[in-house]
Amino acid sequence: MVDDGHLNLLSHDSFANGVPHKTFERLRREAPVYWTEGDAETKGFWSLTRHADISKANKESLIFSSAQGIRLEDQSHEEYLARKTFQETDAPEHAETRRKVNPQFTVRKIAEFEPVVRTLAQSIVGNAVKQKEFDAVENIAKLLPMMMLGRILGLPDEDLNWLVEKGDALIGNSDPEFTSTVIDKMDTSEYRMMPFRSPAGAELYDYAADVINGRRAIDKSGLLHHMLNSDDALNELEFKNFFCLLIAAGNDTTRYSIAMALYLLTQDSQLVEQLKSNRYWDTCADEFIRLASPTMHFRRTATQDIKLHDQVIKQGDKVLLWFVSGSRDEAVYENPHAVALGRSPNRHLAFGQGGPHLCLGRYLAKMEITIVIQELVKHISIIEALNKPEWTRSNFICGVKRLNVRVA
Ligand code: HEM
Repeated sequence: MVDDGHLNLLSHDSFANGVPHKTFERLRREAPVYWTEGDAETKGFWSLTRHADISKANKESLIFSSAQGIRLEDQSHEEYLARKTFQETDAPEHAETRRKVNPQFTVRKIAEFEPVVRTLAQSIVGNAVKQKEFDAVENIAKLLPMMMLGRILGLPDEDLNWLVEKGDALIGNSDPEFTSTVIDKMDTSEYRMMPFRSPAGAELYDYAADVINGRRAIDKSGLLHHMLNSDDALNELEFKNFFCLLIAAGNDTTRYSIAMALYLLTQDSQLVEQLKSNRYWDTCADEFIRLASPTMHFRRTATQDIKLHDQVIKQGDKVLLWFVSGSRDEAVYENPHAVALGRSPNRHLAFGQGGPHLCLGRYLAKMEITIVIQELVKHISIIEALNKPEWTRSNFICGVKRLNVRVA
């Protein structure tokens, strides 16, 4: 395939100005199983970009295994063992740990938080819109997920900024705005035993150790206390890695989905009007999340040779499931790049649908997005972008990291 400047999916720079949707469109059409050569640090890998293939791979989770790492990075077995969360395991181990944490994330359990989300969203949105002109990411999108995660985990408010900064450094480890240890620009081998190969991982481990040892006061009604004290308590390493996973997964993904929703509202003034009609509250969050697809891919490893669309994926090869592409597959969606607030059914892949690793925080994320947009449209009739959005530099996490807006 001819390189259009974005075809090197290994390079974070291919994504520095947002997701190269045209490139993914070509891949879906011309090379649905596509090989990218590696470099000195990272072995080559396959990319699946069609909705049907990604769904199948998610379902066949013992053939497309998570148990050798879920990020592009190659890990030794020792590194894998030190850093693994239950997301990096297969059945039956995966199901066993998921069973321990799942009860805290059911639709019923999450619904209990609705009044808290509402109160926080009202205050956050109220403070933002008073300013008339503001950065919508810093003033809205970032705040709600951070405050909510704090409430759910039972963390003190005064620690949240620091924790989110560390979570950003983990998940945005390729963007110099979020970390001074940029993963593809310097030698990070001294941090190889830490989550995301990042020094922030070490700091989060220390914080988690303080929680375990009672040196941090956490709320006894929160998830962390439960995870340490229930009959099904996690062991120390499981707890530390799960803590890092939640700090990273629970913040940025929801932040970037809200930021994408706000960005889309700036692009089409009719959307605010449509939302005010109150007809789309059951469906709009999924549509915003489909279009945002903030965790663009997760990786699997083939446990046997697989023939797919005339390509042979060899046992041991890395395979990237590009959720961000599958969620805009024209074979599944009419007008895949357009916002259709009432789209239903909306079988997007942004939460890793179809397999055992389906996002645990999906009900929380959808509730936060819906409520924050509900509160915003009560206050405004228009939201305009004052300049172009700025995007994260990452081939893993996609998001608007700055969006200056004016509201009226
Ligand atoms: C819009 C927001 C979110 C998006 C787009 C998202 C996306 C994803 C995706 C794609 C996966 C599947 C990973 C895989 O296939 O390996 C996943 C899993 C997971 N997510 Fe989310 N996530 C979001 C919000 C959250 C929140 C708010 C939390 C927690 C508070 C969370 C916690 C998790 C956990 C723990 C897993 C691992 C589940 C497992 O392996 O069984 N996520 N998420």
